Amino acid sequence: MTETIKAGVSGGGFIGEAHIEALRRIGVKVAGIAEADAALAREKADQLGIEKSYGCFEEMVHDSQIDSVHITSPNYLHYEQAKQALLCGKHVVCEKPLTLTSAQSAELAELAAQKNLVGAVSHNIRFYPLVQQARAMVQEGQLGHIFIIQGSYLQDWLLLDTDWNWRLEPELGGDMRAVADIGSHWLDLVTFICGKKVVEVFADFKTFLPVRKKPAKAVETYSGKLDAVQEYEKKEIKTEDYASILLHFEGGAKGVLTVSQVCAGRKNRLYFEISGSERSIGWDSQVPNEMWVGKRTGPNQCLLKDPSLAAEPVRSSISFPGGHNEGFPDTFKQLFRQFYAYIAQKDFSKVRNFPTFEDGYQALTMVEAVGRSARKGTWSKV
Ligand SMILES: NC(=O)c1ccc[n+]([C@@H]2O[C@H](COP(=O)([O-])OP(=O)(O)OC[C@H]3O[C@@H](n4cnc5c(N)ncnc54)[C@H](O)[C@@H]3O)[C@@H](O)[C@H]2O)c1
Repeated sequence: MTETIKAGVSGGGFIGEAHIEALRRIGVKVAGIAEADAALAREKADQLGIEKSYGCFEEMVHDSQIDSVHITSPNYLHYEQAKQALLCGKHVVCEKPLTLTSAQSAELAELAAQKNLVGAVSHNIRFYPLVQQARAMVQEGQLGHIFIIQGSYLQDWLLLDTDWNWRLEPELGGDMRAVADIGSHWLDLVTFICGKKVVEVFADFKTFLPVRKKPAKAVETYSGKLDAVQEYEKKEIKTEDYASILLHFEGGAKGVLTVSQVCAGRKNRLYFEISGSERSIGWDSQVPNEMWVGKRTGPNQCLLKDPSLAAEPVRSSISFPGGHNEGFPDTFKQLFRQFYAYIAQKDFSKVRNFPTFEDGYQALTMVEAVGRSARKGTWSKV
């Protein structure tokens, strides 16, 4: 189905490599890679066994051999790269956040529609099998009327003042950090599961490390642990390490989200708990093959990922039998399977079972409302 499609990847860092691996698992050829410069592009191409390398993005999008483009470069490049790719007639999968502003995302969604091209945003967490199951359970009414949607997204990789990454620089990452980088995943996820938009938010931010040590040499994501002898310069940090956010959802549900990149021991833990009039469910991304089901009138349950126990529409998103765990790399595989199957069937008026540019726009409107609220100290409408 997909072997004739050729993809080009922009940015061969942490998540670029995850995209490349997932594309290969579903039989999409990774024909080329673009990087910040020609030498780095060639080095990454050789390391990853990719034929073509491009010293700049423009070269890759003008290559007629490339059908689709995966944008896995730093955030500030997403808008320009996605726009250029669409103008050159390529389908686009873009990493989150889709752009730095919601207005830019709206523009990209419109452009993709005008050009009859398909755009996806990489909210990959939607594709854990038990997240899909959670959504099916909400849709089947198993939770009843939803009262409370709460949880957190916690990491520790920016806990020390020697931890550094481009995300700490607003001109590269955007003027919000923890909320835009990981809070956006959580907000996308719970609105996807519950089918309810967030209507207003009240946010409180804190930058616990107002000054950090920036190493003289750039560091790749998650590898930013500076050793003592390295040269650095002190940098003032203006973006949030932490946010707590009160949430009002359409239909009357209420909730709260805690986001942090400075919680020791929490490596990359997204947790949600959704409580309705019939039952509750809870899921932890670090234990992704188990879901807690809470009941008032009977024993609680632990549902294991198992296609035979999943709702019928969820089964096609599960590749392995129960007990054979699926994890982070599999979520990209499942997202790309949906995306490339959609392109292959050619009718772009059909429902899209993957996060779209419109979803990327929705995520940014929530993130922007959170920023407004934190600045003003008041409730802010989405
Ligand atoms: N969906 C997820 O789970 C997830 C996880 C991590 C990162 N991300 C997103 O992926 C993006 C990349 O993050 P990362 O953690 O992989 O960062 P990274 O720093 O590890 O990688 C970024 C890569 O982009 C390259 N690059 C820089 N300028 C470029 C240019 N002009 N053209 C092409 N490539 C260029 C860099 O050299 C580097 O190889 C970010 O937008 C981030 O939010 C998503």
